[in-house]
Amino acid sequence: MQSQFYTLTDYPNGLPDRALFKLETQTLPELAEGEVRIRNHWLSVDPYMRGRMSGIRTYVEPFELGKPMEGGAIGEVIETNDSSLKVGDKVSHMGGWRDIAQLPAEGVTKLPDIDVPEQAYLGVLGMPGMTAWTGLNLIAECKPGDNVLVSAASGAVGSLAVQLAKAKGCHVVGIAGAAHKLAWLESLGVEPVSYRDRTAQELSDAIKLASPNGIDVYYENVGGICLEAALSQLNEGARIAVCGMIDSYNAKTPTPGPSNLAQLVVRKAKMQGFIVADHWASYPYFLNEVAPQVAQGKLVYKETVKEGLESTPDAFLALFDGGNTGKMLVKL
Ligand SMILES: NC(=O)c1ccc[n+]([C@@H]2O[C@H](COP(=O)([O-])OP(=O)(O)OC[C@H]3O[C@@H](n4cnc5c(N)ncnc54)[C@H](OP(=O)(O)O)[C@@H]3O)[C@@H](O)[C@H]2O)c1
Repeated sequence: MQSQFYTLTDYPNGLPDRALFKLETQTLPELAEGEVRIRNHWLSVDPYMRGRMSGIRTYVEPFELGKPMEGGAIGEVIETNDSSLKVGDKVSHMGGWRDIAQLPAEGVTKLPDIDVPEQAYLGVLGMPGMTAWTGLNLIAECKPGDNVLVSAASGAVGSLAVQLAKAKGCHVVGIAGAAHKLAWLESLGVEPVSYRDRTAQELSDAIKLASPNGIDVYYENVGGICLEAALSQLNEGARIAVCGMIDSYNAKTPTPGPSNLAQLVVRKAKMQGFIVADHWASYPYFLNEVAPQVAQGKLVYKETVKEGLESTPDAFLALFDGGNTGKMLVKL
């Protein structure tokens, strides 16, 4: 059986060029003991993958040039040489950026038996959802009544973070780009604020209007002017969960920090970065709390779906110009 997969031909400087992603084909070897073969239905593209294209080890190894790229995927077992999985099982795994994956079964997880579409395990009930829950609860220690600000608020992580904060009884402001994203946030009971065509000062003024009582929790996905504006609106004892800083992922030169970082001192605020993988032991608690609410439609989610393996690089690149509302997915 053949597998089509993407490789990276070089490490990009700045926004990756589409030509750096090469679609290749290989004939898969016989299944070894303990391996399974999976037909992928859904592929995830995520901002963190840009870090794996830098050629430098961060908290995870970089993609190896010329080797199959990896990423979250959902599929169905079509052949198995391991007793823990049977043909027809729906599974999640990291053999994405390809149509057929052949992997050791130990890296493959059977999907829980919850009444949600399977691709939800790449978004609201998967890594991005777990990230939202972790950042809000375990890092920012968000509590009822907090004034919460979330950047990239209509994305996969942000859109769950705002809803979880609302459900706690918080006043929530969400920063996003396009008008339809702001409208969606408003429909969720979130005060929408656009960052487009604004200076940090103008964004700060807009946040103040939307949250006159200041900010107790800032859920940081962007950096840049969003961070500078948020810092200027902090209340005493504020907590900032630094989930990501997508504004700098394609920067060609080091980006300067915000000019007002000293607000952390003045406001006696805490700022803490985190990587969701370090908190994965809490995934069952997250699933227990969030999955029933998703299944009942109490927590909602959106997906932006690109069709076909060939669309994977474009789906990935669109993350950096706001081309997604909710989770960006590739459907095979
Ligand atoms: N720490 C962790 O373990 C962890 C895990 C998962 C994700 N993350 C981070 O969480 C953040 C969100 O990830 P996600 O998967 O949910 O992606 P996402 O928000 O679904 O997609 C990216 C969104 O970011 C916004 N954006 C892109 N460039 C921007 C810029 N220069 N300024 C302002 N907004 C920009 C765009 O929305 P607009 O239209 O609103 O601009 C875009 O749609 C990322 O920073 C990611 O790296 C961290």
